[in-house]
Amino acid sequence: MGLPAELLEAGYTGLLRPLLFASHGGDPEAIHEQEIDLLARLGGFAPSRGLLHLLAGSQGVPATVAGIRFPNRVGLAAGLDKDGLAARAWTAFGFGFAELGTVTARAQPGNDRPRIFRAPASAGVVNRMGFNNRGAAALAATLNGAGIARGNGAAGIPLGISLGKTKVVAVEDAVADYLASLDALAGYADYLAINVSSPNTPNLRSLQDAGALAGLTAALVRRAAELAGSGPGLAQPVPIFVKVAPDLSWPQLDQVLAVCQDTGIAGIIATNTTLRRDGLAPSDRQLAAEAGGLSGAPLTTRALDVVGYLTAHTTLPVIGVGGIMTVDDALAMFDAGARLVQLYTGFIYHGPGLVAGINAADSRRNRG
Ligand code: FNR
Repeated sequence: MGLPAELLEAGYTGLLRPLLFASHGGDPEAIHEQEIDLLARLGGFAPSRGLLHLLAGSQGVPATVAGIRFPNRVGLAAGLDKDGLAARAWTAFGFGFAELGTVTARAQPGNDRPRIFRAPASAGVVNRMGFNNRGAAALAATLNGAGIARGNGAAGIPLGISLGKTKVVAVEDAVADYLASLDALAGYADYLAINVSSPNTPNLRSLQDAGALAGLTAALVRRAAELAGSGPGLAQPVPIFVKVAPDLSWPQLDQVLAVCQDTGIAGIIATNTTLRRDGLAPSDRQLAAEAGGLSGAPLTTRALDVVGYLTAHTTLPVIGVGGIMTVDDALAMFDAGARLVQLYTGFIYHGPGLVAGINAADSRRNRG
């Protein structure tokens, strides 16, 4: 199933990536929009989806986490398909799940462009998108139009949906804002992720403080329980994960874990992008001054350390994300106790060959 990982990776890095990175005058966001548009069309059409799967599909090792059965342990991280336009395409790249969003209760434009910057010598990206998205109701309509409902398998893989705070809503009113998104989307998501760790919405990260986080997680978990049994796809409460920043200290992470355990959170996603700028190569140093979060290779070590810390201090499942640029990076995350991993920047730099390579290595280990 699918071409060998090495061939896929060579084809992507040797042929496709140079074309993609150079098109639209090298504007990463314009290329991204074009690719999502293409994948939305390919994903909506069974024969093209099948062909894509034949070329780029991969298998890997199934896992059950928070009651969800994942066909393999490699997922697409949040932010790449914010509005779920390509929701049916991700299975064809070998992913075992995809996290759509981050969406907010109200549609919003995000920050001014340019707002994504490649750091090629560092294999990184700096972004300050600011949750540009069409809003929770639009995502629900898109998924509904694609025939996707929670647990019906229409996307081929489980779908998570990441929820954020609408920018114009004050942080004191965040709970109602997140609840509105949950109400709109609980029937479509296999899990919901509470994003309190993006650096690009003012004050969002303050929702990681114990008091604020407890109020937010308790309210969302309670509402998910209330909704259970109320409609299609809602037999069980939708599991809720919390996504954390890599810039939290160990005591701060201890507090996050205590709150998550106390309030019925089903898992932790670690990590989002970092505000730190170490790890940038000399030729990318001008990007250190750009506001936003840094992802990719400069984040590898810190994200791994955070995952290791979390798994040593909780029995909640941990999903490892951040700087997984190679098969070995993913295996290190598994060794650190991550139950699943997610890719964003590694997928941009290495394409579906990285997904296939991680799945192949995970299968080999599982057999061995
Ligand atoms: C992101 N990321 C992100 N995370 C999230 O929870 N919601 C979001 O909307 C976004 N948006 C987003 C946009 C862009 C352009 C990038 C590069 C990243 C963070 C992403 O999901 C991931 O946590 C980090 O990028 C670290 O993983 P990688 O990229 O190093 O594999």
